[in-house]
Amino acid sequence: TLTPTRDDKFSFGLWTLGWNAQDQFGGPTRAHIDTVTAVNKLSELGAYGMTFHDDDLFPFEATEAERQTEIDRLKKALADTGIIIPMITTNLFSHPVFKDGGFTSNDRAVRRFALRKVIRNIDLAAELGAKTFVMWGGREGSEYDAAKDIRGALERYREAVDLLGDYVTDKGYDLKFAIEPKPNEPRGDILLPTVGHALAFIATLARPEMVGLNPETGHEQMAGLNYTHGIAQALYSDKLFHIDLNGQRGVKFDQDLVFGHGDLQNAFSLVDLLEFGGKDGGKTYTGPRHFDYKPSRTEDITGVWDSVSANMRMYLLLKERAGAFRADPEVQEALLAAKVDEVNTPTLNDGESYDALIADRSSYEDFDSAAYFDGKGFGFVRLQQLAMEHLMGAR
Ligand code: GCO
Ligand code: MN
Ligand code: MN
Ligand code: MN
Repeated sequence: TLTPTRDDKFSFGLWTLGWNAQDQFGGPTRAHIDTVTAVNKLSELGAYGMTFHDDDLFPFEATEAERQTEIDRLKKALADTGIIIPMITTNLFSHPVFKDGGFTSNDRAVRRFALRKVIRNIDLAAELGAKTFVMWGGREGSEYDAAKDIRGALERYREAVDLLGDYVTDKGYDLKFAIEPKPNEPRGDILLPTVGHALAFIATLARPEMVGLNPETGHEQMAGLNYTHGIAQALYSDKLFHIDLNGQRGVKFDQDLVFGHGDLQNAFSLVDLLEFGGKDGGKTYTGPRHFDYKPSRTEDITGVWDSVSANMRMYLLLKERAGAFRADPEVQEALLAAKVDEVNTPTLNDGESYDALIADRSSYEDFDSAAYFDGKGFGFVRLQQLAMEHLMGAR
């Protein structure tokens, strides 16, 4: 079915639909959307969750009382609708104090302030039952190579994440961290720019089991990378803790389009991987299907809600199309011919040593590489054509 339900686990950032469409070149084209309106509308449209930065819910300068008022209003809206808060994140990028970063600012006092802001928000995450705490270090980076000691900055990043891991553990909170990579924008270059960089960083942490990834479609694609490959490697490393779905067309500024409105064939392979890539064709990821996009600046409020629905509908359409692709006997046959599953067979026999491999004449001395490949192709193009025909609804 193409009607979203709670079981689909669709969630949206309050900052996504709530964006007032201000950019570097022009002022807002839309009015602010109140939190309660957002929760009600998301519920009505079929989402199950909403996420937010501290500063999305209450302004940076909010007094204790103002902050509490907004938290209480949110809690009431959640109780009224059944919408949950699966993830919370901290804004360490909008306020001028963070112009050189939060955890990795050259200014030590800023780093201490950033840690306090995050700790406060971790308490809120636990209070609201969020299970994932996203860390997008949008301002952690530089424009000028001489201006940032990258090894020192990574050390401070590690110090911050380790401290927060201690805090969550000591408090007994059921909360994990998910680092969100991005190659650039707003900084000229951002630390932990891709899934691969972030995985390498996580391995250096004191509590690596508490820290995973929140890869965003467009961010990998801004670096010219294959998002489906990145997600597959995150899954392979058991680090797909959360996901930010959206659309991006090529290596350019962060477009944050509706999911599937960018590289459609990559979105197809992604949904195929998430929904049918598991053992026995099941799901590989059961967490929220979280959309982190921006309703284009051209849209009015009707366009905002249309774009919310479009994200969910694109996901469900792609799921339907990927299901049809998997079920097609001709696809099954093409997958077999292309030996797609053979990569799962270990290259060595059970217990085989390199001595045994070297003794196996059929693997080398008698392996006729010329004859082996003479006239034999893998048929990958045929397989891809079948995929595209399913994607287009032509089969
Ligand atoms: C982006 C990022 C951000 C973060 C979000 C969470 O588009 O540059 O996705 O939107 O995901 O702010 O901190
Ligand atoms: Mn983005
Ligand atoms: Mn994001
Ligand atoms: Mn975003």
